[in-house]
Amino acid sequence: MGIIYSETTKEFHLYNDMISYIIQVLPNLQLGNLYYGKRIRHKSDFTYLLEGRHRSLAVYTKEKEYFFSPQYTRMEYPCTGTGDYREPAFEVDQEDGSRIVCLEYQSYRIYKGKEKLKDLPAVYVESEKEAETLEITLTDSLLQLDCIMQYTIFKDYPAIARSVKFCNRGEKILRLGRVFSASVDLPDAGYDMVQLSGAWSRERKVIVRPLSIGTQGINSRHGISSAEQNPFLVLKRPGADELQGEVYGFSLIYSGNHMEQVEVDTCHMARVQIGIHPEGFEWQLLNGETFQSPEAILVYSQQGLNGMSQVYHKLYRNRLVRGLWRDRERPILINNWEATGAAFTEEKILTIAKNGKALGMEMFVLDDGWFGKRDDDFSGLGDWYVTNNAKLPGGIKGLAEKVMELGMQFGLWFEPEMVNKDSDLFRSNPDWILCAPGRTPSPSRNQYILDFTRKEVVDYIYGMMEKILSEAPISYVKWDMNRYMTECYSITKKPQEQGKVMHRYILGVYGLYERLLKRFPNILFESCSSGGARFDPGMLYYAPQTWTSDDTDAMERVKIQYGTSYLYPLCTMGAHVSAVPNLQVGRVTPLETRGNVAQFGVFGYELDLGGLSDQERKIIREQVEFAKKHRSLIRTGDFYRLQSPFEENDAAWMVVSEDKKEALVGFYRMLGVPNDAWIRLRLAGLDQEMDYMIDEEPSVLYGGDELMQVGMVIQKEALCNQGGDYSSKIYYLEVSK
Ligand code: DGJ
Repeated sequence: MGIIYSETTKEFHLYNDMISYIIQVLPNLQLGNLYYGKRIRHKSDFTYLLEGRHRSLAVYTKEKEYFFSPQYTRMEYPCTGTGDYREPAFEVDQEDGSRIVCLEYQSYRIYKGKEKLKDLPAVYVESEKEAETLEITLTDSLLQLDCIMQYTIFKDYPAIARSVKFCNRGEKILRLGRVFSASVDLPDAGYDMVQLSGAWSRERKVIVRPLSIGTQGINSRHGISSAEQNPFLVLKRPGADELQGEVYGFSLIYSGNHMEQVEVDTCHMARVQIGIHPEGFEWQLLNGETFQSPEAILVYSQQGLNGMSQVYHKLYRNRLVRGLWRDRERPILINNWEATGAAFTEEKILTIAKNGKALGMEMFVLDDGWFGKRDDDFSGLGDWYVTNNAKLPGGIKGLAEKVMELGMQFGLWFEPEMVNKDSDLFRSNPDWILCAPGRTPSPSRNQYILDFTRKEVVDYIYGMMEKILSEAPISYVKWDMNRYMTECYSITKKPQEQGKVMHRYILGVYGLYERLLKRFPNILFESCSSGGARFDPGMLYYAPQTWTSDDTDAMERVKIQYGTSYLYPLCTMGAHVSAVPNLQVGRVTPLETRGNVAQFGVFGYELDLGGLSDQERKIIREQVEFAKKHRSLIRTGDFYRLQSPFEENDAAWMVVSEDKKEALVGFYRMLGVPNDAWIRLRLAGLDQEMDYMIDEEPSVLYGGDELMQVGMVIQKEALCNQGGDYSSKIYYLEVSK
């Protein structure tokens, strides 16, 4: 791994064993990209990669110098108004009305390791040996505006972290109108674009479409990353599949509005851009002020989509998730939401907890409904203390202690960013919400958004949470956020500061998380947003796991978890077994299948355990034991998608331990098939040379090569429900000793 700078050619070559990324200072002193992809050997001059030729209609930077036109060049951070007609990476509105900017190379700095991004989540290193960072300073000398481009290359990952920082050194006021975290020009557009799109209860479906001329992309204007579009984009060669082929991933470590787009020009170059959504964003920079963009993580894989996903999984699992829980097994929890909603009694809660304990579960989580006046979703949000003693006679402390006495840990739900009009908080501070003068704030789920750009608001919420968390033995917090943002206006900010509100809001959320983590480093946080509407890498920096979706139907969950796994490791996906008929789709799936899907995530339960039959109790006890036995493998192993539920009636995936000595294979059938084919499922990631025993038939050994090349036979009779509707099975493979 290293970063080589050549003074003569003004080239920077960032490389490790897997990738090369080459930047050059162009004739107009802007930055250009010469190459990004598989590692190539270094040489002293890559200038030939800069295409230059005379074209009619082309704009040049100097008279008679026809070899260089920004319009036909792969730019590294494209500017506005100087001859590149494609999408710019940033915009600067100036006092005189001009928007023309020209960022020219000034200097660079290379250092070992990686520095923290101020107030923002980002990938980190634990030793300087893990990465090297390049900072290139570009300046618009007329505006006295510096742009510091930040690149980190990692020793062990085919990944580059990119972000930018703007600093106004001049006297004039500058207004940043867009600031993408990264812009990458690829020399051709022969790719399919893959995105994770959805809606509430059907998050992160895998959508694939070929690139074509023009601009195509995804975004969120919802104020948070959203269930609709995840801040993530993939370009894959049309021939690439899960196991082979060239793939480029682009992921944004951010939880607010975002935009990912690809512009294909008529010369078939592809410009990929990722960052904060420009709409509604305007960052005024006064003299001496800086703006730091969120971080984008670029991954290149030659091993297809699984190869790309595994890089993100390892990087995010080990160097984005932080704290005590990063390397710990997560408790198997039972959450009361689907069993009781907000209308519960302490007795009911303790019965669920007692039953959970008897079945081997480790933590009880009390969901929505414990605070203020809250039996439904019309009131109470904002009052984070117990007022209803009929519901919880001993308060949270009393209940938590009783749960602890049962031998279980206790977890609690909050929705810190929200308020109901029917709450003490709103009655005493009606102007604490986001709302615009003269306009009525739009309701959603009967709740309104607290103005987290305001310190006094965040301080007040922190105070209430701190009190509860320090008074009661609480080991886990589920931090929910159940609506999208509207009327994004902060009444305490000046008109020219309003374009900062949405980003500042997210910084307020990050800030509150940071304070709570500092005060309670042992608490495990799970983020949530009506299920998975804020499942993004930004959140993972604070909360190691996220509630994946409100849809707990096993068949829907196969799809949701399959899509989510494109970017996110299994140890970040909250996955619970719930009751049937399923609350969202009314489907009745076997308990075994519900368990077999949830095992490939952070395993837990979400149902009334009271009315279970003996047979159901037996199955659950076995599931819990299975989860305890294999959760370390699930957390640390390499995950492979084998068969897509978006394409087939049968879906399959597997996890292989790092030493390849054991593996778990999950097989799922959507609908029963009469007189169906004989299924051989080709596995992946095993050791070719080792022999494996499958738990089904311990007397037979199968070569790793055989299982990957010929396949593992799936006997439909071995599946729960005998291969009929919603049948499934998890196979455990172990190397023969
Ligand atoms: C939405 C979450 O996704 C659910 O799990 C639950 O916590 C409810 N909110 C509670 O209001």
